Formats: sequence, structure tokens, C-alpha cells
Amino acid sequence: MKLTNIKDIFKNKISIDSLIKINGWVKNKRISKSNLIFIDLYDGSFINTLQIVSNNKLLNYYTEIIKLTTGCSISVKGKLIKSFKDKEKLELHVLELNVLGWVKNPNFYPISSKKHTMEHLRKFSHLRSRTNIIGAISRIRSVVFQGFHNYFYKNGYYWVPSPIITSINSEGAGEMFSVLNENFKENNIDKNNNFFGKKVFLTVSGQLTIESYACSISKVYTFGPIFRAENSNTTRHLSEFWMLEVELAFLNLNKIIHVIEKILKYVISLVLKNNYEDLLFLKKNINENIIFRLKKFVSSKIKKINYVDAVKILKENYNFNDNSIFFGMDLNSDHEKFLVDKYFKAPLIILNYPKELKPFYMRINDDNKTVSNLDILFPGVGEIIGGSQREERIKYLEKRILELKLNKKHYKWYRDLRNYGTVPHSGFGLGLERLIMYITGIKNIKDVIPFPRTIKNADF
Ligand code: 4AD
Ligand code: MG
Repeated sequence: MKLTNIKDIFKNKISIDSLIKINGWVKNKRISKSNLIFIDLYDGSFINTLQIVSNNKLLNYYTEIIKLTTGCSISVKGKLIKSFKDKEKLELHVLELNVLGWVKNPNFYPISSKKHTMEHLRKFSHLRSRTNIIGAISRIRSVVFQGFHNYFYKNGYYWVPSPIITSINSEGAGEMFSVLNENFKENNIDKNNNFFGKKVFLTVSGQLTIESYACSISKVYTFGPIFRAENSNTTRHLSEFWMLEVELAFLNLNKIIHVIEKILKYVISLVLKNNYEDLLFLKKNINENIIFRLKKFVSSKIKKINYVDAVKILKENYNFNDNSIFFGMDLNSDHEKFLVDKYFKAPLIILNYPKELKPFYMRINDDNKTVSNLDILFPGVGEIIGGSQREERIKYLEKRILELKLNKKHYKWYRDLRNYGTVPHSGFGLGLERLIMYITGIKNIKDVIPFPRTIKNADF
């Protein structure tokens, strides 16, 4: 008997009247007046459950089937038929049902079939993927990750893994987690715990290392976990998150915008095609608007404005008397929300920020005040992408390193890239979890990563 999954059944890959085997978990169970037991079975391959029908002639009907509760795992053999009641629906008529695992204490099962809050589910990160909502997010997340790799493979990019343990701060500033070898210290080999002979940290970005590869194999990306010890307990910050970073030689900022649009549209179209039923579930339960806005995103161009105009819009429309709105201010999350949720009501690219607000590696514009950079803000989420043209001119780069009081020696190798055959190049970094928030409509970043790491929280 062929082992199949629920997705293949709903996608009409299994013919009616076939004898099949299916493994999964009980979502719900009810008994009819005629003693038929109906089980909604899920196996994680698809958002919908498959109805399993058992009659009381089955050998273990009274000893086992009748006792099944939400969460029990079972293996079923049976015949796939069209439901008598509703010819559109499929169901499996059981020939044999084996219980693989019982739920101990069903009354205390944390993922019972009633609706749970996201806060409740967060306490059970090891079980919450059994719910429809986390199941849908997980399937979408996987398609997005795979989609990026597919896009890059098809379009001639090379995947360059950047190191996770590093001795530099790629962003020039910001809190990092240090890496220590506890054993090394105990054995008193080195009192300073200097396993690597210097202080090392978990990476905050792979950008600088992939720049060296962009300056040799031209089209590259890195895709991995990023660690930031920021003291920001918000709904959009994690201490460990995933970042996609792309770096392209011989490209200026304008061209990179074009590349970003193509990549995002490819991945979002893929989700619309592959995860439509998951999106329908999220539309019904989380945000009415999500499918409409994803379709709109795929068919429109992202709006662009300069930082200086963003400030003007805020001054004129957000709060005219607010003296904290001026050229040189950093946009906080309320400003970002106003611009994308209220004013433009669409994703927005903001270009050319004052150099003081941005890291040392961004290319200085001719005005000597702003840098050639972009931040891309999305409704409901805020910044999802940050990128720039990189400063390829050694003179300007060294000036910025000096102005920002960074240790020139630490960046010797990075300066080498400018001293040996420098080229114009640009790149960007995309926060994966923030993109998943936009796609799914989920409001808290802790719900779009399986085991979130945040301040005072590193369970599991
Ligand atoms: O804007 P960021 O800091 O840019 C960089 O690190 C560049 N080196 C990227 C590059 O040009 N290669 O971070 C990029 C993105 C942000 O736009 C945001 O989406 C995400 O990473 N991000 C976070 N996501 C979750 N939690 C955090 N604490 C994040 N910090 C940044
Ligand atoms: Mg940024």
C-alpha cells in the first residue's frame, strides 16, 4: 500500500478509490449517532486536515480508536473516497488504524484543539508547530529560504558562506556577543581566555567578507544566522536572526534597486503559488489584506524618495511643531510607520541618508553630507532591507574610518580590496524574519522563527 501525504491528496495526485497508507496526528475526533468515528488528521504537509472515517467493525474500535484524543499519532490504511455528504470533499475509509503514540493526560495537553494565544504558544515552542498557524508560517518560511537559493542559482550568483566567529564588527559599531572557550580558561592555559589570540565575537553581518568575494567572483551572496546584542525588546528585534546579504561588483545603487525588486518579486510569487492555502488561512485568521497586498507588490514598482524628502513629509504631515524632526535625525519606528502605513500605504525605498547615521563603508555622495544608501520600509514591519553602494575609493574610506575613530589596523584587509584593483560595488542585507512578518501578516517577530532568542530568553 502506497504511503502518501495529505498535500498530495488535496492536490489531486492520488486517484479516488486508491488504497493508501497515511501517517499523522489527530486534530479532532467526533462520534456520529451511527457510531462512526470521524477524525481530522494532519501530517504537516498541508494546512487542511483529511477526514478519516472508522466504523465499529474495526478490531481496535472500542479498545483504542474510541479513546483517541487531540495530538495522538496514528498510522492509517484505507480507501480514498468522495464523501457521501459532500461530493467535493475527500475522506479516507479506514481498513486498519494503528496507534503510534498516545497523549498522556489529554486535559493538560498544551496544544489542545481550542484556539490559543500567540503568547501561550510561545511558552511551548517545541510543540507549537502542531498548530495551523505555526505550521503555515513554517511552510512559508521554508519556501522563502529555498526560493532565494533557487533565484541565485538560476541567475549566476555564487553562495559564499561568511564566518560566524569573527574578530571585526562589520557595522563598525553596535553591541556584539563575545565567544569564549570556558575550558581553555579553566585549564589556565591563557588567563584572558584568548583561544584565538584575540577577542572574537559572533558576527553582526557577513558583508565585509563577501565584499572580498564580490571583488573577485562578481555576483555573490551569503545567507546565515546573525547575532546582535542590542538592548531592544521590541516586536521586530531578535538577538539571533537570519540575514540574506547580496554583493555585486560593477553595480551602482540604482542598479541594486532593480536587483532587489526582481529578487523580492520572484520569492513572493513563489509563495503565492506554493503556499496559497496557507495564505488563505492567514488571511482569514491574521490579516484580511495579505493576499491582496502580496499580489499588488508583485505587479508594482516600489516607491522611492530621498531621505531629505522623507523628513520634509514628516515635518509637514506628521508633526509640524516637533523640533526633533530635522535633517540629520534618525527615523524612529513611529516615523517609519507614519510614512509606510499612513502616508504612502505601500513599501518605500528611502535613499541618501546623512553620513552620520550610517556605517563607515557607505559611499559618500558629491554633497559630502549624504551617503549612497537605501533603507526599504514595509507596512506593518518597518525596515526589512538596508544596503548601499560601497566606498571603493581608498582616500574617502580611510577618511571615514578616521572620522569614526575606528581602528585602522582592524580594517587592513578591507582596505586592501581598495588598494588592489578596486571596483565600484554595491550590496544589501535583508532580514529574513522581517520579510516573513510582511508576507504572513504576523505582528511579533518571535512567532516567525522556531526558537526565538531575545533578551532573557534562550529556552530550548
Ligand atoms: O540594516 P542592517 O544593520 O544592515 C547590515 O547589517 C548591512 N551590513 C547589510 C548589507 O548591506 N549587507 O541589517 C539588515 C537587515 C535590516 O534591514 C533588518 O531587516 C534586519 O537585517 N535586522 C534585524 N532583524 C531582526 N532582528 C534584529 N535585531 C535585526 N537587526 C537588523
Ligand atoms: Mg539598517
